[in-house]
Amino acid sequence: RILILDFGSQVTQLIARRVRESGVYCEIWPFTATDEKIREFNPRGIILSGSPASVHDENAPAIPEIVFSLNRPVLGICYGQQAMCQKLGGKVETHEHREFGRAYIDIAEDCALFRGVWARGKREQVWMSHGDRVTQLPPGFRAVAYSEGAPFAIIADEGRRLYGVQFHPEVVHTPHGAALIRNFTHNVAGCSGTWTMAGFRELEIARIRKQVGNGRVICGLSGGVDSSVAAKLIHDAIGDQLTCIFVDPGILRAGEADEVVKTFRGRFNIRLVHRDASDLFLGELAGVKDPEVKRKTIGRLFIEVFEEEAAKLGGAQFLAQGTLYPDVIESVSFTGGPSVTIKSHHNVGGLPERMNMQLVEPLRELFKDEVRELGRELGIPENIVGRHPFPGPGLAIRIPGDIDREKLDLLRKVDAIYLEEIRNAGLYDAIWQAFAVLLPVRTVGVMGDGRTYDQACALRAVTSTDGMTAEVYPFDFAFLNRVAGRIVNEVRGINRVTYDITSKPPGTIEWE
Ligand code: XMP
Repeated sequence: RILILDFGSQVTQLIARRVRESGVYCEIWPFTATDEKIREFNPRGIILSGSPASVHDENAPAIPEIVFSLNRPVLGICYGQQAMCQKLGGKVETHEHREFGRAYIDIAEDCALFRGVWARGKREQVWMSHGDRVTQLPPGFRAVAYSEGAPFAIIADEGRRLYGVQFHPEVVHTPHGAALIRNFTHNVAGCSGTWTMAGFRELEIARIRKQVGNGRVICGLSGGVDSSVAAKLIHDAIGDQLTCIFVDPGILRAGEADEVVKTFRGRFNIRLVHRDASDLFLGELAGVKDPEVKRKTIGRLFIEVFEEEAAKLGGAQFLAQGTLYPDVIESVSFTGGPSVTIKSHHNVGGLPERMNMQLVEPLRELFKDEVRELGRELGIPENIVGRHPFPGPGLAIRIPGDIDREKLDLLRKVDAIYLEEIRNAGLYDAIWQAFAVLLPVRTVGVMGDGRTYDQACALRAVTSTDGMTAEVYPFDFAFLNRVAGRIVNEVRGINRVTYDITSKPPGTIEWE
């Protein structure tokens, strides 16, 4: 196993992801971890992360003493390299030639760190982001690669198995970065690479049992991937000590509420409270036009109803959440404590503080695709595990303006046809999100011999890797034609279909 010491870089989690991808178990600890704990963990290798700090800062995060006396390989990345050099007797300077973004390094010598990946004499693309740089190597080190801005782009002391890189191998912009990290975990540190998601499952189950003991846990279930995987994992760990609360706000897609209940109560035998709160939600949303007010109203009601149901159950000490790593931008502050910021989209962000419960968050180290893989490992059906992201405010933000039951029913019918066609065409997995929007306009049409004056709808489908940017999915025209034909023929009240061809930016994925 590998230990990653975090000095506060925004991309530390990506190092962990790359290590996991190489089939090796790892944990991320703050740099303030004690020598004793590190010795006990007994890592085969240690990776030192980057940091927004400079080694010249007054309270610069320091490498724990024990790191260099364990006699295990160490890889310092960016700040990790600089801090290592400073500690072992080299020199680090702040230089005018800063490098940010794509850069090229020249490989001057062979080195175990990149054997089989890069070779002497080659020029390779990497991703740099640094102001400081090493200017003098500590005794025992040699430079094996250099770039224009960093004379010591890769350094090595092969005797002691200490390595440092100025660039970031963990980000995808360093094309062979993953192979380099794999080389470190396998060839340098000697890990076997047999660790899998099944291993993660076992470990998390043990962790959950240890955290919860005989306590009781409640978990909000939404039908989405994250809460589904969290609930199943926790249930595998503690069985009936877990109760799930599923609040149906009346703004879900066709058939979704039934599916949640059938899968979790019926198939998995998980204790489930199903509260149909659609009257309450739709009552409070009546006449509300502003999208932000809709969001806030829905968020507040979710919390209120959830609290009400939790109070009825009584006596739970733990609240489970399917928080993923991207939801939590965690940075280590230099006094040691991690500080947490939650995305504003996070709909129940205020819940934990209000409920005064301890959090169980078994997915907080994972990225979305890893959660899906874990979900498959847990036997969760593909229609849930592979589901497109669905926003907390649901269909309410897919009907510009105010909403009511009638509009929702109309939109559900359109959406169901659209998704059915996408699935039938085998395109579902190639798309990040696909959905229909009910437009608040009426247009004239002709059907049979008669004139119609009905509503219009828009179809949207985008590809994306994280929802931050998105490209329109290029359906072929025959597909769109078929979907549009079915919608106007099968859904009474819709007489016009449009396809949204706006990418993000400048558009957003949702219409509100
Ligand atoms: P936008 O519309 O901002 O969406 O491009 C980016 C991603 O976030 C989802 N989204 C939300 N998710 N609560 C959520 O839980 C929200 O209020 C919300 N608004 C947008 C959207 O579906 C897309 O995946």
